[in-house]
Amino acid sequence: MRSRHWFFLVGVLLYVAGVGFVIAGARSARRAPTADAPVAVVTPIATVKQIMKGIVAPAAMAVFNSVSTTVSVKGIEEKAPETDAEWEALGNSAAALIESGNLLLMGSRVVDKGDWLKYSQDLIESGKAALKAAQAKSTEQVLASGEKINESCDNCHRKYQRSS
Ligand code: HEC
Repeated sequence: MRSRHWFFLVGVLLYVAGVGFVIAGARSARRAPTADAPVAVVTPIATVKQIMKGIVAPAAMAVFNSVSTTVSVKGIEEKAPETDAEWEALGNSAAALIESGNLLLMGSRVVDKGDWLKYSQDLIESGKAALKAAQAKSTEQVLASGEKINESCDNCHRKYQRSS
């Protein structure tokens, strides 16, 4: 009699434990990430000024300086990327400008939902034009995109750059 009672108790405990496992399993299944859930939490670290000085300004200078016309006593000297590697380097700088536009649209860096978004988007679009120009190896397109890039810097600075 006593041992049967004991077996019964073990049976009940196993049953309860089993139900517990099923519940735990269902819970973790519910918490499992779905396909469209974010995989990483992105935390902005750099200040806007650091992004400007560390990424935007060098990339913009690389685009501005890649094509130029110098007039001197020796005549007119045209400068443009020549080798595949030089065109690729120009494309890389354009890509850095595009991505810095994305960085300006991240979290706490967004100053407002109006012109800040517009000017950041302008930087992205003008960077895309420079990237296309580099891929097409077109000097004229590089010049045109350079003007658009410069405009996007000026427009945003006019409204948002605090005097330092
Ligand atoms: C969406 C807005 C925005 C765009 C676009 C933008 N900037 Fe800026 N930039 C700022 C703000 C805001 C500051 C001031 C940051 C601070 O001092 O905290 C700044 C500061 C700078 C500085 C630092 C100046 C200093 O020494 O204090 C440089 C250099 C700069 N920007 C270059 C550029 C260039 C080059 C471009 C275009 C290719 C550009 N920025 C496009 C918003 C922008």
